[in-house]
Amino acid sequence: MAAASKKNRLPVYIVISLLVVFSVAFVVILAITTENEMAAEPIDANELTADTYMTEVSALLENADAANGAVLVEKYGCIACHRGEMVAKIAPPFIGAAERATTRRPPLTAAAYIYEAIVNPTAYVVPDFNAVMPTDYAAQFSESDLGDIMAYLLTPDAH
Ligand code: HEC
Repeated sequence: MAAASKKNRLPVYIVISLLVVFSVAFVVILAITTENEMAAEPIDANELTADTYMTEVSALLENADAANGAVLVEKYGCIACHRGEMVAKIAPPFIGAAERATTRRPPLTAAAYIYEAIVNPTAYVVPDFNAVMPTDYAAQFSESDLGDIMAYLLTPDAH
């Protein structure tokens, strides 16, 4: 009797083992794909070059639509912090952002700086401001939305 019921449990053990193997594989794959997301790894300030982020940035800006970016900064609520009379206290205004971006974090290009400021806001915090900008935009945005917003902020009429 005992021997027979032991034998019958064999398929159960096989199923449990398979479940364990699949769960482990799932966690490993999840970890790998999360790492590959748009969010850039923090880069040490003295490892930055003029090429940093530029592969991603060029791809994002290709065919980007700045006019749609203007709509998106309203849609995603960026302007709650970046526009209005309180703006100078909460966050730097979008007005003049393109110009300031050219010298904000050398040797990063203006486009690379704007990209980093959105996908990884804590990599560099603008002096006199607090790091209150949401850090999960990279996970929320499609690449096309991100490119459009970057293109808009790089125009002189961003506000
Ligand atoms: C809760 C307030 C808040 C929201 C919402 C917010 N930001 Fe910011 N942002 C900040 C603050 C504060 C800074 C300056 C501190 C820092 O560098 O993190 C900043 C910095 C930036 C900079 C760099 C500006 C410069 O002059 O160097 C860019 C670009 C930017 N944000 C883009 C965006 C975009 C695009 C969105 C919407 C998708 C957004 N922010 C939403 C608070 C916010």
